[in-house]
Amino acid sequence: MSDTNRFKRLRFWWRYLRRNTPWDTNRTPPEIVALAERLPVGTALDLGCGTGTNVIYLAGRGWRALGVDFAPNAIAMARRKARRAGVEAFAQFYVADVTRLAWLEASVYAPFTFAMDIGCLHALSAEEQRAYVAQLARLTAPEATYALYAHQRRHQSEFAFTPEYVRALFAPHFALLSAAEGVDSSSGYRSAWYELRRSAR
Ligand SMILES: C[S@@+](CC[C@H](N)C(=O)[O-])C[C@H]1O[C@@H](n2cnc3c(N)ncnc32)[C@H](O)[C@@H]1O
Repeated sequence: MSDTNRFKRLRFWWRYLRRNTPWDTNRTPPEIVALAERLPVGTALDLGCGTGTNVIYLAGRGWRALGVDFAPNAIAMARRKARRAGVEAFAQFYVADVTRLAWLEASVYAPFTFAMDIGCLHALSAEEQRAYVAQLARLTAPEATYALYAHQRRHQSEFAFTPEYVRALFAPHFALLSAAEGVDSSSGYRSAWYELRRSAR
């Protein structure tokens, strides 16, 4: 892990410790609920899953769902929440960096039919974003759905997550199906929900 990533992980760890996590609402966003109602039940991957709210929601609906996050205290909370919800058999959580997921290819849940990222990818450097997309392409099934929520302001990389940027970043592995732009309620940043589909190979 790079020094920058170590520092970022420490910052998130500290925020989860202090509960300074305005994004952690314990509510699954309506965009994910709508997808879960539309898609056939399958296997799901949540990249940067935080305290696991969405993995637990999907596991409760019969999905086999797996979340990864590099903040160990967020993953500990996610596991506790899954036990309390009685879904620990279908909800797996791992402490891991989303830019290094080769080990996950051996998971019984892979290839995933649905993947999501709510607020993680947009803070990676341009190089990390490319590594993330290449891995996601290997970890997802043909025609898998990928839902992305990203701020349209520059974070670590020099790029903002506009529809044009997202389309180019994920090509040729994923096609951009829709973009719903708005304003993030916790930060006030312009942001968007994107839905992409993995190519059929
Ligand atoms: C804004 S929070 C969103 C968390 C969760 N998706 C939610 O909606 O509650 C971003 C999350 O991404 C995680 N994260 C950021 N960079 C990461 C990386 N390189 N690898 C794994 N997790 C990362 C953070 O620890 C944090 O939990």
